[in-house]
Amino acid sequence: MIPESFIQELLNRIDVVDVIDKSVPLKKAGSNYVACCPFHQEKSPSFTVSPSKQFYHCFGCGAHGSALSFLMEYQGMSFLDAVEDLAKSAGLTVPQDAVKISPQAKEKNLALAEVLLLACEYYQTALKKSGRAIEYLKKRGLTGQIAKTFQLGYAPEGWQNLESIFKKYDDDALYTAGLVLKNDQGKLYDRFRDRIMFPIHNMKGEIIGFGGRVINPEDTPKYYNSPETPLFLKSQELYGLFAARRSIREKGCALVVEGYMDVVGLAQFGVMNVVATLGTATSAFHIKKLMRQTDTIIFCFDGDLAGKAAAWRAMMNALPSLTDKVVLKFLFLPEEHDPDSFIRAHNKEAFELMMQDAMPLSQYLVQYLTEKNHLVTQEDKVKFLNEAEPILKEITAPKLSLLLRKRFAEILHLNDQEMDQLIQVAQPQFQSHKAQMKTKAKLPLSMKRKFILLLILKPQFAINEDLFLAQYDTYEDDLLKKVLEIALNLPESKPSSILHGLKSKIDYSVMDLLQEELTYFDDQIHFESEIDGARKMLLEQAKASKTRAHFSALKDKPLGSLTEEEKEHLKMLTQRPKKP
Ligand code: UTP
Ligand code: MN
Repeated sequence: MIPESFIQELLNRIDVVDVIDKSVPLKKAGSNYVACCPFHQEKSPSFTVSPSKQFYHCFGCGAHGSALSFLMEYQGMSFLDAVEDLAKSAGLTVPQDAVKISPQAKEKNLALAEVLLLACEYYQTALKKSGRAIEYLKKRGLTGQIAKTFQLGYAPEGWQNLESIFKKYDDDALYTAGLVLKNDQGKLYDRFRDRIMFPIHNMKGEIIGFGGRVINPEDTPKYYNSPETPLFLKSQELYGLFAARRSIREKGCALVVEGYMDVVGLAQFGVMNVVATLGTATSAFHIKKLMRQTDTIIFCFDGDLAGKAAAWRAMMNALPSLTDKVVLKFLFLPEEHDPDSFIRAHNKEAFELMMQDAMPLSQYLVQYLTEKNHLVTQEDKVKFLNEAEPILKEITAPKLSLLLRKRFAEILHLNDQEMDQLIQVAQPQFQSHKAQMKTKAKLPLSMKRKFILLLILKPQFAINEDLFLAQYDTYEDDLLKKVLEIALNLPESKPSSILHGLKSKIDYSVMDLLQEELTYFDDQIHFESEIDGARKMLLEQAKASKTRAHFSALKDKPLGSLTEEEKEHLKMLTQRPKKP
């Protein structure tokens, strides 16, 4: 692991503007730099880079982060590579033992990510030694190269293989990471045995879990996955996204398939912009995650009934998050195929042709709703309306919503007014995303919030007594405490490195909002006096609220039980201030 202090120092040394400008040419605009956002497609620039705050933020898609996250998100670098890269340009050396996690790192209390990485390396080595596993992959048409790219491995037969690589087989981390299981007698054993291993990565490129496929067709279940762990939330992760990000952005489109094998198989044929869910339904979270990378998402599910049902569920989950910028499409394969078998039976060109012909959402909806309903009788039409209503209600993208209503009205030979009377959907908000973001961020900030922002921007002005201001237990207090902790420790930090330190300590959504407020925060001010002023006001507020608490405590006591001093105090508190 790289010490956090090194990352902080690194972020303080480099300039985010230089780092980003190398790949995305920036233009000066006021005190910031702007460009068309590299994380989504747009015509006017909403991607802002702040030299004073040392981070980027896009008002269009919400992408944000430091120089480090830019390298990972945009260049697709792993966390370690990004750190190395920045360190090089800053003339720093990454602490050596941090770079390679050697088997000597077999210490107790290994971090989950380390444990999973070590296991992955073990499985990869084991694959090279297993003729049977290699033969299986070859039979499936996979090359050694693609196995290497996806870090495929093999978990050999046997119950405690992992004991050979971990000094402490009973380390909690192995259990928490889902690599070992406990039987009724409390004996530990390997979760994955005699399976082809597919490591699953998060957006940083860290391994967070595995999927394991049987080799013997009669073994069950066919795929066995890591359990949910603090690192691995199945409804939020997508298999292959880390490897596919670059291609997704280049092609302007992401393909969502059902199986690990589909991702790997398509990649071998050169179709790289592909991700798969982890044996779960496509969730709203998946869609949002993809919408950060691209605005065209194509679902390509198996041609069988289960595939069709999965497509419908994916669509329903996607509807609420859709914006008018996003295009959802559906690609249905011939019944006997999944994407992997299709591309093997045909070729890349045939597959890409099908992708181009994928069915847009509106067409898919109409086709689905009229598949078993020929709209002949009035009852047929009522049935159609009943089925269409919940769908329309889920859509908040204004243009899409309006156009779909019109299309449905046409099909039923209704005019718009009649349609409006029959199906009442909430009036969609015709405010642009950008405008919404602006109103949100421009809400007046509370004094404490402002103080927090000021301290993130100029941590050198934080003083220990500020902790007094964070002693009540609201969310804001908690945030203030955390900011202070970092600021007092590393007063020379730039805002980006304070945010980096906060990242693991606060919620993702809190982080999003914070970033946004910071981006809008006017930093052409005299910080010292602003911070001083805010501190004084907060002190007053804190004292007043303490007095109030004290007063109500005194008031609730029987008068007889008060000490003379307390009586005096109560009298003072109840006296109205005299008018001058
Ligand atoms: P498929 O059965 O379509 O798998 O399941 P596949 O990827 O095409 O694999 P091959 O071609 O048969 O080898 C699709 C996905 O559903 C999840 C896995 O994520 C799998 O990739 N799944 C499937 C499970 O989690 N458990 C299972 O037992 C089966
Ligand atoms: Mn398959």
